[in-house]
Formats: sequence, structure tokens, C-alpha cells
Amino acid sequence: MHCMDDDVAEVLISAEQIRTRTRELGQQISRDYQDQDLLLVCVLKGATAFLADLMREITVPHAIDFMAISSYGTSTESSGVVRILKDLDTNIAGRNVLIVEDIIDTGRTLSYITQMLKTRGPKSLRICSLLSKPSRREIEIRVDYVGFEIPNKFVIGYGLDFGEIYRSLPYIGVLRQEKYEKE
Ligand code: IMP
Ligand code: MG
Repeated sequence: MHCMDDDVAEVLISAEQIRTRTRELGQQISRDYQDQDLLLVCVLKGATAFLADLMREITVPHAIDFMAISSYGTSTESSGVVRILKDLDTNIAGRNVLIVEDIIDTGRTLSYITQMLKTRGPKSLRICSLLSKPSRREIEIRVDYVGFEIPNKFVIGYGLDFGEIYRSLPYIGVLRQEKYEKE
């Protein structure tokens, strides 16, 4: 039987490492937003696993909301041309918004999202990304909370997909090259 792990060349970040780092981030966020309003905005679908674990490590009261965007491009490269598929339910005017993302690569997607959300007048707007590929950055963008900086490799698991598959892997793995070279 073919299983998802067979398509992983290397485990980059183990489930245990993710758990430990997520706990640290949750504690840091809880300190920074103590006695303040907080709204976590999860970018679907890649950040769902991270949001689910992160919010349970945040001890201050907070609300969550979701937005879905489609970013045009190939399956391993985003173009930065972003379309909103599902907007927030919440009016973020005057709120402390923390965007929860899976990965920041070129920075195009988050740059677009932050610019758009800024026009709605939040009290503050910060970014928490589980992963960052600094060597790939094209647009300078401040990421306030970063889980792990990773090399320029295409990764899957813990929410991240290739062709909508592999999101359920409990760790972050590097996809076998032959899998995406076939594309
Ligand atoms: P950016 O606009 O180039 O920063 O790309 C961000 C988006 O591209 C992320 O939200 C992911 O959906 C996707 N992405 C970038 N790198 C990877 C990767 O290594 N694995 C899976 N998705 C990725
Ligand atoms: Mg994505």
C-alpha cells in the first residue's frame, strides 16, 4: 500500500519540535496580549493545523476567524495575485488582529493580505507564521512571530499541501523531488 510518508524525502521538523515551539509562541503571544483584545485570523487552508494547536496554547481570551484566498500560480510557486474566496465574518475595525499563516515564502501573499486588512482600520495588525523561507523573500515584510526558519525546499505536512494532499501528516517534511518534477 502506498502511504503519504513514502513521498517524504526527509523529515525537516518533527511533531515534537512543532509542539514545543507552538507552546513557546503561545506563551509569548499570551504575554504580549495580556489584558488586551485579540482576534486570530487564520488563512485557510494551510494554517488550520497550526491555528488549532496554537490557540490551545494561548491563555488570554481571544476570538478566531477565517479567510480563504486563492493565489494564482503553479502548485509550488505563488504569484502574489490574490483573490478572496471567503472573507472574514468579523469587522476588524479597532481590533487587535493577529494573522496566523502556515508559511511565508516570497512574501507576496501576506503582503497583499496585510495591505487589504489595514484598510479596515484594525487597532493593530501582526503576523504569526509557523514557517519562513527568508532566502526566498521578494517583498520585505515584518513577521512578528516565526516558528521556524527553513531552507529553500518545498515542504508538506502539518497543514501544508502539494496538490491538496499531505496536509494531515503530523510533521513538516520535504517532498520528494520526483513528485513535483512530474508536474
Ligand atoms: P508567498 O506568497 O510566496 O509568500 O507564498 C505563500 C503561500 O505559498 C503559502 O501560504 C503556501 O500556500 C504556499 N507555499 C509556499 N511555500 C510552500 C511550501 O514549501 N509548501 C507548501 N506551500 C507553500
Ligand atoms: Mg497555502
